Amino acid sequence: MDNRPIGVFDSGLGGLTAVRSLRQILPEENLIYFGDTARVPYGSRSRETLLKYARQDVRFLRSYDLKAIVIACGTVSTTSLSTLQAENDLPIVGVVEPTCSRAVKVTNNKKVGLIATLASVRSGAYEAKIAELDKDVSVFTEACPLFVPLVESGRIRRGDVVIETVAREYLEPMKERGIDTLILGCTHYPLIAPIIGDIMGPDVTLVSAGEESAFELKRMLKAQDLRADENRQGDADFYVSDRVEDFERIASLFLQEDLRHAARRVDIEKY
Ligand code: DGL
Repeated sequence: MDNRPIGVFDSGLGGLTAVRSLRQILPEENLIYFGDTARVPYGSRSRETLLKYARQDVRFLRSYDLKAIVIACGTVSTTSLSTLQAENDLPIVGVVEPTCSRAVKVTNNKKVGLIATLASVRSGAYEAKIAELDKDVSVFTEACPLFVPLVESGRIRRGDVVIETVAREYLEPMKERGIDTLILGCTHYPLIAPIIGDIMGPDVTLVSAGEESAFELKRMLKAQDLRADENRQGDADFYVSDRVEDFERIASLFLQEDLRHAARRVDIEKY
């Protein structure tokens, strides 16, 4: 048994999709969340910049005595996971492998779509993992760079004409490919899953990166005997690198709890 907290990070709000799943799947665990809201979006950055940011994010989280880290960010997972794992002496879980395993299990017609950030699509990491798991699965990719800034600005509701127009632009070509499974390869995208689902229709299964990584973490904690005491209720602390108010407002909406005055600001450049 190990009651130390788990660190979770993303460029901003996206990792909350993993937090929501972690709180459902592992309610006894304590979480420390960091959203790098001062430097979001990550998805348009170079590999070098992403690694620099990710190292700082990990260094901040490791100022706490953690037992594991979840990279709740597709972009960091596709570009920096192996380096971060090699540099740190604690288990680090990314989103690519668990998400691809799920997609390969779910698809019937072996046509899988992937929407993600530019950096993730450029990396080819999702396609490489799917090819390793099942070489007969075809993957169709689409980078959706406008989704993250729109989600960060709170444009996440059905009926919002801006997000719906952008989503149709990205997703209609994907729909024409005849996919039956769509990977939401950026952890921000599940925040607009209802809008994506409306456009793709009921025959397309959505697979969310954040959720699958929570299941992967649970397996890993069990295998390494790192689970917290199952009789307790875990807590979550939230840190961001820019204004706390915007984060709290959207995070409260998404997690369906009142997070006013719950987040704290960190100067990430110090790490
Ligand atoms: N939510 C992150 C991802 O999963 C980062 C998005 C961004 O900052 O561009 O890729």
